[in-house]
Amino acid sequence: MTTRTRVRRLPRPRTRGARIAAATALATLLAVPLTACGQEARGGSRYQADDGKGGTIGLAMPTKSSERWIADGRNMAEQFRKAGYKTDLQYGDDKVENQIAQLENMITKGRRLLVVAAIDGSALTEVLQRAHDAKIPVISYDRLIMGTQNVDYYASFDNERVGELQARYIVDRLELGEPDKEADEKHTLELFAGSPDDNNTTYFWKGAMKVLQPYFDSGQLVVRSGQTKMSQATTLRWDGGTAQKRMDDLISKSYAEQRVDAVLSPYDGISIGVISALKSAGYGTKSLPLPVVTGQDAELASVKSILRGEQTQTVFKDTRKLAAQTVRMGDAVLNGKKPQVNNTTDYNNGKKNVPSYLLDPVSIDKANTQLLVEEGYFTAGQLK
Ligand code: GAL
Repeated sequence: MTTRTRVRRLPRPRTRGARIAAATALATLLAVPLTACGQEARGGSRYQADDGKGGTIGLAMPTKSSERWIADGRNMAEQFRKAGYKTDLQYGDDKVENQIAQLENMITKGRRLLVVAAIDGSALTEVLQRAHDAKIPVISYDRLIMGTQNVDYYASFDNERVGELQARYIVDRLELGEPDKEADEKHTLELFAGSPDDNNTTYFWKGAMKVLQPYFDSGQLVVRSGQTKMSQATTLRWDGGTAQKRMDDLISKSYAEQRVDAVLSPYDGISIGVISALKSAGYGTKSLPLPVVTGQDAELASVKSILRGEQTQTVFKDTRKLAAQTVRMGDAVLNGKKPQVNNTTDYNNGKKNVPSYLLDPVSIDKANTQLLVEEGYFTAGQLK
């Protein structure tokens, strides 16, 4: 019986908090005696394998609704396998209670290492305490896990830089030059942010605002909706449909008489929703061209949209490299070595500075989509 089947059979608690508590309680009930057996079977040695040479690594990914996470899971499974490990890859279907139950199950089964891309970065404190008690190390993957000592390492991209690249692209495409209070041309911009429970959201936003704020101050960029706070711009679970509804609303309330020139979108799935809303409102013609729309992840549908001249930009984060880095870190931890890190100061999760390895993101637009083919991320055929 899978963990998900177990969760589904229960009456569904009404609030999200109640659902998380119920999932934790259920998983605790089911897992405690088994965890104890698991530890005995493994003889208590800190990182001893339970099933063959390397043992099994638990990979907890957030959702299959986005191509990138499917690739992340597949890449890690392949690369851990090559390094001599088995893998237990689980997707949480963007439901926090599923992810908690999956992690409980991995702990119960004595997985040697947990690699977690959190759905809600602050909801894993209890389950990771249990991982710690079972002496299972944890790597936070792409998204930082918050509020716990029990996260050993963080592998990601330079998240603030992602936001900077998106905002810098807007500034360059609108040819704003240096911030200039005397400039008489004003451009309109609307802002979207990621999921409020994903710690990356704040980093993307911070990076973008570092670039955009001087242009708000000079008056060259105007957010006609007035929604300039991150809390007004967030998109729960990065959902494209949610973004589409908000964009519909922004257009009808604030752009009846003026066009929107640019939209800061932090993720390709959000950009797709934003572009659908714009097209429904008549954008995408010679007389009313689509605004500059940014994105992130270089997902195939969005790269194709860029080639069609709809989405304007995305940020490429090579999931194969992130997987390779995570495998190197995991392998080092399991062999009693110190993994290589390149940042020990910027990723504080509220309990500790999590030693991190950050990779470089790359801005992609129509002019350099070829790079994705040269890097072997897509084939030339896929981009046709
Ligand atoms: C973020 C991640 C982005 C994007 C987004 C939505 O945590 O850093 O690259 O994938 O989630 O899935």
